[in-house]
Amino acid sequence: MTLANRVVMVTGGAGGIGTGICRAAAHAGAKVAVCDLDRDAAELTRAKLAADGLATTPVKLDVSDPASVAFGIGEIEAALGPVDVLVNNAGIDIISLFVDSDPDDWDRLIAVNLKGPLHCCRAVLDSMTERGAGRIINIASDAGRVGSSGEAVYSATKGGVIAFTKTLAREVARSGITVNCVCPGPTDTKLLAQVEAFDPKLHGALARAIPLKRLGQPEDIAGLVVFLAGDSASFITGQTISVSGGLTMA
Ligand SMILES: NC(=O)c1ccc[n+]([C@@H]2O[C@H](COP(=O)([O-])OP(=O)(O)OC[C@H]3O[C@@H](n4cnc5c(N)ncnc54)[C@H](O)[C@@H]3O)[C@@H](O)[C@H]2O)c1
Repeated sequence: MTLANRVVMVTGGAGGIGTGICRAAAHAGAKVAVCDLDRDAAELTRAKLAADGLATTPVKLDVSDPASVAFGIGEIEAALGPVDVLVNNAGIDIISLFVDSDPDDWDRLIAVNLKGPLHCCRAVLDSMTERGAGRIINIASDAGRVGSSGEAVYSATKGGVIAFTKTLAREVARSGITVNCVCPGPTDTKLLAQVEAFDPKLHGALARAIPLKRLGQPEDIAGLVVFLAGDSASFITGQTISVSGGLTMA
């Protein structure tokens, strides 16, 4: 039980990778808050994990709205205690070539993918600093390291998350808080299905291009997140680690 009794907050916890992270963290003994914009999906995730004997707490929260983040964290603190581990996983993608893209979509991508992690970090940091301990794990993307056609602004938000992670890691290290970034490669979720709708040949092409010859699964990402949240990772901070079957070796 590497995360016994730690309070782990997972944003986008009802999505593909988020559910995988909630499952792995609960399995490791954590008290997990499944935080999602979609309340019904969060409740469904709770029920799905409960059927496997894993208790979690669903929380409705919109990472792009600081008031909603503060309210959701208040609920977590009341139900489970202060947040020990924040996993900034919620994210959206809006696919199009940059020249065809709509500035309103740029704003939404930035609000959720870049400002979302900022709001959540800001909301947990005072308490983590007071306690002299904490873990923050930001789910970015290999798109933020190497680029990805059809995802120019998405890639920019993820590159921003990577840069933010490094600076925040420097600022909060003295308070015993680590901040790291996990970059999934193509992973089999609803979000990837959107990319495939943009380019139907992509699924097969990606699987062929990945040296380990398959798409990622949520549990591939979750294993690294649980490791970074645990005691064995206490001397790792400011790092960006890809989980992509070797597609990128950045
Ligand atoms: N799937 C991939 O191939 C891939 C690759 C690289 C990075 N990622 C990143 O992994 C993370 C998880 O993606 P996924 O593939 O599981 O996607 P997904 O679409 O399956 O899940 C995303 C979840 O985030 C929630 N969400 C969306 N906006 C939100 C908001 N404002 N507040 C709170 N919750 C919100 C959604 O309701 C959904 O449950 C994202 O940050 C994504 O950018 C995914």
